Amino acid sequence: MTSTVVTNIGELVTVDGTRGDELGIVHDAALIATDGRIDWIGSTSAAPAADRSVDAEGRCVLPGFVDSHSHLVFAGDRSAEFEARMTGTPYDGGGIARTMAATRAATDDELRALVGRRVAEMRAQGTTTVEIKSGYGLTPHDEARALRIAGEFTAETTYLGAHVVPPDARDDRAAYLDLVTGNMLAACAPHARWIDVFCEPHSPNAFTEEESRRVLRAGQDAGLLARVHGNQLGPGPGVLLAVEVGAASVDHCTYLTGEDVEALAGSDTVATLLPGVEFSTRSPYPDGGALLDAGVRVALATDCNPGTCYSSSMPFVIALAVREMGMTPAQAVRAATAGSAAALRRDDIGVLRVGARADLTALDAPSYRHLPYRPGVPLAHVILDGR
Ligand code: NIG
Ligand code: FE
Repeated sequence: MTSTVVTNIGELVTVDGTRGDELGIVHDAALIATDGRIDWIGSTSAAPAADRSVDAEGRCVLPGFVDSHSHLVFAGDRSAEFEARMTGTPYDGGGIARTMAATRAATDDELRALVGRRVAEMRAQGTTTVEIKSGYGLTPHDEARALRIAGEFTAETTYLGAHVVPPDARDDRAAYLDLVTGNMLAACAPHARWIDVFCEPHSPNAFTEEESRRVLRAGQDAGLLARVHGNQLGPGPGVLLAVEVGAASVDHCTYLTGEDVEALAGSDTVATLLPGVEFSTRSPYPDGGALLDAGVRVALATDCNPGTCYSSSMPFVIALAVREMGMTPAQAVRAATAGSAAALRRDDIGVLRVGARADLTALDAPSYRHLPYRPGVPLAHVILDGR
């Protein structure tokens, strides 16, 4: 048993709803963690001794960010596609096939090194939990391989064989769906916690409502939990389908109808907003503040991927949510911690309370408000990791 006391926390953002205000802030705080779990929170003056001591020197400390949506297992480069998009070429998901070819061609060690670098990049910006999807292999072997490698870095692994129908399967779409819900699922289920589908009528090789329902139901029958890519490129069936199947989260939500918002508000499905995608694809931003006002549970994540947002930065996402999506700094911080933990159906992360995992991120700043106030400045550092 090793205990650590963190003292002189100027602003401890617990995100613990039982503490009253939205972020459950404690000033002049201290926190003790033993073997990766928090076992005491109080004032610095009352802090008991511990084996090890960390002086936060008046900084703001908050739960490590939870990035509940990423596609880190990929090889190759699509920066030229980004450049073309900035001068008007719209995004339609077509570049996924290029990444797929590069990913299939990479060795296990190459992919492992690429994922490791991206996870380290996230951690250097305050993220302590990341969800990682497959989706650039699109054969039973390549998808299972992606999930095995993702599993070396996180327990939150997601099978996304239904990302797009790959070019080599386009002459028989039905056969590809049989594979995704059959042999590919069987090869991947042992390495995944989640199943996801790109439900998108506006992308020619993504999946329809019917196809998506079939994929999600097959995954659930195999013991996986559902999450959905929905309503990204235009209004569509993704949100209602996610609510129907009891998905933990529907991600993107760029184009929502009143019916979508109402369904989300009456459900346990979290709306995960990915403003880095709107930024990198020149798309309109959804109104996160209005979603919260309507009673929808909202999460923020990066979607770090080579096509629609190659950013690993949760602080960047928080800044965009405040600047472009009508969210207050407190709402954005909550969505990037407890909100994204809820999108992973986790209550041991994204919050600082006794019993929770001791994942602590400190800001070189006195307040959480500095996250959107000082965009692009490397303020966030992980100071304790409960794993
Ligand atoms: O979340 N929408 C589908 N998948 C990714 C993009 C994948 C790609 O373009 O490589 C996303 O935006
Ligand atoms: Fe995605």
